[in-house]
Amino acid sequence: MNKEELGYRKYRMEGGDGPCSYRQNSNYQKLSLDSAKELMNELIDQNLDLRNSYNVCPLDTFRIADFGCSVGPNTFIAIENIIEAVRNKHKSMNLESKIPEFQVFFNDHVDNDFNCLFKNLPSNRQYSAAGVPGSFHRRLFPRSTLHFAHCSTSLQWLSKVPEEVTDKNSPAWNEGRIHYGGAAKEVKEAYFIQYGKDLDSFLSARAQELVPGGLMALIIMGFPEEAQLSESILGETFKTLGSCLQDMATEGIIEEETVDSFNLPFYYPSASELETLVEANGLFEMERTEELVTPIKRQKPDVRAAALHLRAVLGGLIKEHFGEGIVDGLLKRHFEKFVQNPIVSDQNYIKEAHYFLFLKRKMDLPTPWAGQS
Ligand SMILES: C[S@@+](CC[C@H](N)C(=O)[O-])C[C@H]1O[C@@H](n2cnc3c(N)ncnc32)[C@H](O)[C@@H]1O
Repeated sequence: MNKEELGYRKYRMEGGDGPCSYRQNSNYQKLSLDSAKELMNELIDQNLDLRNSYNVCPLDTFRIADFGCSVGPNTFIAIENIIEAVRNKHKSMNLESKIPEFQVFFNDHVDNDFNCLFKNLPSNRQYSAAGVPGSFHRRLFPRSTLHFAHCSTSLQWLSKVPEEVTDKNSPAWNEGRIHYGGAAKEVKEAYFIQYGKDLDSFLSARAQELVPGGLMALIIMGFPEEAQLSESILGETFKTLGSCLQDMATEGIIEEETVDSFNLPFYYPSASELETLVEANGLFEMERTEELVTPIKRQKPDVRAAALHLRAVLGGLIKEHFGEGIVDGLLKRHFEKFVQNPIVSDQNYIKEAHYFLFLKRKMDLPTPWAGQS
């Protein structure tokens, strides 16, 4: 296995606590967690079987893992919501005396700023905490050890950019663009195929790690089938970034070829694509899929916050491909073009959807999974 497959990356969310850090610029992701809180409580109440099932009871320790946790604070909010729902379930069944202890595993790439994460662990937490570095596209835990898996706004990251989109001889060559918005249909297809492989690896690994009947909640950044990525703030954000890179290449600041070989490793699935992929994987029951009504769609887009958020998320990726020197210049250009674009401050162009999927690991894994490590 190469280092990348093991979760080593030269890029990561901007660490630390500074003004450009992910910690200070991740309110967008937090809003999704807030809108999922009630659903999480309801679905844990409906699906956590405390009396009969061997998925969790009797139990001393309830083990939760957050995949793609980044540096906080959102991961702490997600964990609190899960623990509160598990406690509520015990209370509603008069099993308060049986509330287990909680052990929480925080997973992200090896290069994630885990120091920052651990320094900021809530002081009043009622769980023990551990970090688990490595790519969530592979196994990270021993078989049947987790009771609850969580992953929010992380699965849009592909394990790699599909090779065809940088291959000049392929019909999926993504000439002059850095993402699939507005590109030929072959480009989007190549991205979708990669997404399907990655989601399958993620689900297959989690199915091994969860106990039979174990639960999993996913918040997935997606895009409705009927909407066009190229006619949305998300699409405009990437298009503007691509055009700034082209300008810098024209001015000789970066090589044309380095721009041609740069594509963003993100895919935004539709709800029906997700349902198809989960069913094809076959290792989980889909208990619920909901589109979250995130408050983002009710707010006037904040262009400045969006630019800072872009930097916190993409700064590392840009550094890795183009070198440290261009990040400030590129993002300054991006901001200047971005604020002048009427689309990006128009609420009607917020088209991305956040899907909430609640899954239950099947009781028996079909062969060949049953015997695999
Ligand atoms: C946008 S952040 C979301 C973080 C957090 N869940 C939240 O709600 O704020 C996405 C995170 O997923 C992580 N990530 C992406 N691909 C990953 C992978 N294959 N394995 C582990 N973490 C991954 C990134 O490093 C990043 O920290």
